[in-house]
Amino acid sequence: MRSVTVLPLGLVLELGPDETVMAAARAAGYGWPTVCDASASCGTCVSIIREGEANCGPMPDDERETLDRTLGSVDGDRRLACRLTVTGPVTLTKRGVHPIEES
Ligand code: FES
Repeated sequence: MRSVTVLPLGLVLELGPDETVMAAARAAGYGWPTVCDASASCGTCVSIIREGEANCGPMPDDERETLDRTLGSVDGDRRLACRLTVTGPVTLTKRGVHPIEES
């Protein structure tokens, strides 16, 4: 089951195959912090993996380059939600995830 729990909100997302965490959040009606609108260039969507690192999908080159440029290092604990896919349960922390208000 590709479930992602987003802390501290407690939001639980179910991801489709190859769906990113940010795309799943948006589809569920939640906004995710971004400046580049999910083009893997700003680093704003970076999230801290708390559990399930082994269930995180492979890191694409553009994510690796942005993490290295914005954080100065790349490790499995920090991932970009606009590129992160999962193969099983993952728990991560990202502040600023919020329900999108309907107008
Ligand atoms: S939204 Fe900008 S890097 Fe992910």
